[in-house]
Amino acid sequence: MKKRILSGMRPTGPLHLGNYHGALANWVRLQEEYDCFFFVADWHALTSDYEKTDAIPGYITDILLDWLSVGLDPEKSTLFIQSRVKEHAELFLILSMITPVPWLERNPTYKDQIEQLSNKDLSTFGFLGYPVLQAADIIMYKPFGVPVGVDQAPHVEITREIARRFNHFYGPVFPEPEVVLTQTPKLLGLDRRKMSKSYGNAIFLSDSVETVASKVATMITDPQRMRKSDPGNPDICNVYDFHKLYSPAEVTAEVNRRCRSADIGCVECKKLMAKHLNAFLDPIRARRRHYEERPDRVQEIVTAGSDKARETACRTMEDVRAAIKL
Ligand code: TRP
Ligand code: SF4
Repeated sequence: MKKRILSGMRPTGPLHLGNYHGALANWVRLQEEYDCFFFVADWHALTSDYEKTDAIPGYITDILLDWLSVGLDPEKSTLFIQSRVKEHAELFLILSMITPVPWLERNPTYKDQIEQLSNKDLSTFGFLGYPVLQAADIIMYKPFGVPVGVDQAPHVEITREIARRFNHFYGPVFPEPEVVLTQTPKLLGLDRRKMSKSYGNAIFLSDSVETVASKVATMITDPQRMRKSDPGNPDICNVYDFHKLYSPAEVTAEVNRRCRSADIGCVECKKLMAKHLNAFLDPIRARRRHYEERPDRVQEIVTAGSDKARETACRTMEDVRAAIKL
């Protein structure tokens, strides 16, 4: 029996290279060794975008295409949509009865988001309860681990606390899931801030060859290097960090040398990097095309995945109802 892994993403737009290295690359690796459940957290998308939901269905399709195009394999991983498994809502309700409000109020992500997204009214019951829904998503499948980035670790911590409290009241139903922290290579956005869709500094997995080339051309390089005749410093250059990820080692070493000796200019260096980045994206593009031409197949995959997830969820809910005697 393989150990189980579960993780999810909110459908908030097309995925970019930061999402790839921060999560997807790891998911693709994990599916070789674990029984993986990956889901689109569409109810979670409502917590911040409840006023205007028109874009969500398109984002769900985008994210599924992104997942399949990077190589998540429906033969190996169960891919599903949260709202197709209503049991999540039932478990959320039950867990909400036992979760102390102060646990949620002191959650660092909660406070951060309320401040950062000050243009939205997040003073809702659902937003406060976000981690309770996430806890339901997770413990429903009794996974051994949850692969997430550091920003999500507090949520998995609350999940463990909720699972422990449930078991304490009603008997041992839920194992406490481990946080499987994802190691992320350094990769900043075009402007050297964190890569994010909302900053407009992202390279998307679905960007065309031309879009990638023109985005790369706008990247900030060594800020001290004014002219091609000035020697550059790759150690402080974002383009060089990209070379390290996408170019062959010989190319990267040569860029390093030629940059320091002012033998290569940034324009040429960027073109070279864009070529290797595009070579990395090409197989992803090919798989995307395959699935874009077969929308029915994509629907079949999530329907089968959601059916399978629901079977597991139904079994868990039987244990839960027996434990709480209702
Ligand atoms: N909160 C996660 C995010 O914003 C999405 C999510 C919802 C999730 N439920 C989950 C992740 C369960 C892991 C496990 O990315
Ligand atoms: Fe960066 Fe390349 Fe320019 Fe050097 S030559 S500063 S590595 S873009």
